[in-house]
Parts: sequence; structure tokens; C-alpha cells
Amino acid sequence: MGLTRRQFAVVLAGGATALLDADPQTGGPPAGTVSCTFTVNGQARSVVLDPRVSLLDLLREHLRLTGTKKGCDHGQCGACTVLADGRRINSCLSLAVQHDGGRIITIEGLERNGQLHPVQAAFLDHDGFQCGYCTPGQICSAVALLDEARAGAPSSVTRDLRNSGPIDLTDDEIRERMSGNLCRCGAYPNIVAAVRSLAPPSASRSIEPE
Ligand code: FES
Ligand code: FES
Repeated sequence: MGLTRRQFAVVLAGGATALLDADPQTGGPPAGTVSCTFTVNGQARSVVLDPRVSLLDLLREHLRLTGTKKGCDHGQCGACTVLADGRRINSCLSLAVQHDGGRIITIEGLERNGQLHPVQAAFLDHDGFQCGYCTPGQICSAVALLDEARAGAPSSVTRDLRNSGPIDLTDDEIRERMSGNLCRCGAYPNIVAAVRSLAPPSASRSIEPE
């Protein structure tokens, strides 16, 4: 893209990028846009954005991290799940500007040095997918789920709310905690088996890149 000193590459709503002229008053980013910096999969990324751009569109259409999927684009399927500062979120429901200065991890950022993350390996071992479209979101959700269970965060099916230790990840707990991630292929039994295979204490690895 041929950028002059008077232009900025701006990510527009929908994720497309356009060259726009600098603000004539300040010489800075065009009026109505904002400059943001994110750490995505351990790498610093700086962009100028239309503030209406969703995090999902920024990741897929601008940063070309297409492992994160767009299913419903309405917060109903979980295909777009990523980790933002260690918490799982639906990236289609989140404006990119809300994460200025934050750390985002997508499915592409889970492996290290060519080694699959244990959750990725478990999904392979247990055939936790068929077409694979929902799988990046399922895996990111499962990574966060294991951390939440280790931290003792209860769900709506947790029986003993006085227990402050790690949650016993029964199949009911796993189903409830993964209920925001839909799978149209119906791979649910194997997804539950994959998550169950990593239930604490064996799932002790941090999700953050080194
Ligand atoms: Fe975000 Fe469906 S694409 S929840
Ligand atoms: Fe096809 Fe889940 S594996 S939608």
C-alpha cells in the first residue's frame, strides 16, 4: 500500500483498510479515528482504527489471523472466541478499541515452538471436531475454562459453593462451561472427553506466551 507522510492506513468498520488523509489541523490520524496498540500472540501491533471495528474483524480482515472464525457475528455461537488478558470473550461482540493496550491470544498463538498446546493436542487425540469450523473457538474456550476451574470459579451447576479450591470438572461442569460454543457437527461428546482429559491438576500450563 503506497503510504505518504500525509496519509494513514485506517482499519474501517467491517475490517477493510483504506488510506485516509491526515487530520489537517494536527497532522495526526484522520478525524474520527483512533490509534491503538495491542499485543497479539506475543507481538506488538499498532493500528489506526475506525472505533466501530470489532475485535473479530481486526483480527481476521486486517491482521489476517483467520483461525478465529466468524459464525453468527451476534454473540450466539462462540466461533469467534479469543483470550483477552487471559479471559475468553466473543470477539464479534467486542470493539477493538476496548482492548487498546491489552493482550490478545488467538488459536494461532497457543502453540509454542512448533508444539501444540495441550488443549489442541487433546482435541486431536479425542477427535473433538468434524468440519473444524467451531474448533478454534472451542479450544480457546477450553483453555480459559481450565484456568477458571483451577481458580475455583463456580458455574451454575457447581454444587458446593463453599469450596474455594479447584472445581471438580464433571461432564456436567464441562458441558455447562462450554455451552457458549456451539458445534453444528455435534462433536460434543468428544469435545467433553478432550476437556475432561486435561482436568486439574494435569492442566497446569499457563496460557500466556513466554
Ligand atoms: Fe461471535 Fe458467533 S461469531 S459469537
Ligand atoms: Fe463442525 Fe463443530 S466441528 S461445527
